[in-house]
Amino acid sequence: MSYENILVDFQNGISTLTINRPSKLNALNKATIQELHDALDAANKDANTKVIILTGSGEKAFVAGADISEFAHFDVSNGGKLAAKGQELLFDFVENLSTPVIAAVNGFALGGGLELAMACHFRLASDNAKMGLPETSLGVIPGYGGTQRLPQLVGKGRAMEMIMTAGMIDANQAQAYGLVNHITSPEELLSLAEKIAGKIMRNSSVAIKGAIKAVNANFKDSVDGYQVEIEEFGNCFGTEDFTEGTTAFLEKRKADFPGK
Ligand code: COA
Repeated sequence: MSYENILVDFQNGISTLTINRPSKLNALNKATIQELHDALDAANKDANTKVIILTGSGEKAFVAGADISEFAHFDVSNGGKLAAKGQELLFDFVENLSTPVIAAVNGFALGGGLELAMACHFRLASDNAKMGLPETSLGVIPGYGGTQRLPQLVGKGRAMEMIMTAGMIDANQAQAYGLVNHITSPEELLSLAEKIAGKIMRNSSVAIKGAIKAVNANFKDSVDGYQVEIEEFGNCFGTEDFTEGTTAFLEKRKADFPGK
């Protein structure tokens, strides 16, 4: 499938989705959110895709936020619907995908851009990246999960300061905060993401799916994460991957997981 605002590239088990509105610093308009949903859904359903990498086109931005021109005239009801729809279609959707999603943050990740990166399973950044939730400078609050995921990742006090000041932090600060796992040069960002994807792909995709579900359960109200872990752990024992993984270990060879 081809998209207007996204580029999709598939190679060696990795689907790389590039948000492609560089003239608007890849700002997330309604159409881009829908296309991202569709492309992520397709990649997640594709048995050959073992890891998804999400990045932005151009040298300047991952995503500079939700498209301000689309909501500047909204009223209370439209504002609420915008947040609800976006969270359902994209931000909660990414977080709960069973295929690992790595955000390769290649510049500005502001507002909805940082919220998108935070919804991914983990983040890498180029050394020119700048991150922040500037919504209060526009008279709104983060609406795509930022008030929830930022404190989860960096702690409440740091999140409060970032949201209240509407300021930006650089890649080093983001790494010190635990917001990004690794920093590299812009030129090497995608190859670093691919290298990490390669390590992920050596392992059981079925076990990784269960692990994502169990880790996410820790952050869901009214879900007992330990119980989810017990169930997912138990389920592994009925998979071909488990048979292959344990047999390969005992036979002193590398596992060749069927992904079932
Ligand atoms: N929504 C809509 N358009 C956006 C946008 C956004 N979030 N962020 C950038 N753009 C557009 C600009 O309007 C400009 O379009 P134009 O050339 O048609 O005027 C283009 O992208 C380039 O941005 P510009 O502001 O000229 O680049 P800059 O290098 O001077 O500044 C930023 C970069 C990221 C600091 C600045 O664009 C910015 O503050 N963006 C908004 C960030 C924000 O508040 N995000 C949260 C939204 S909830």
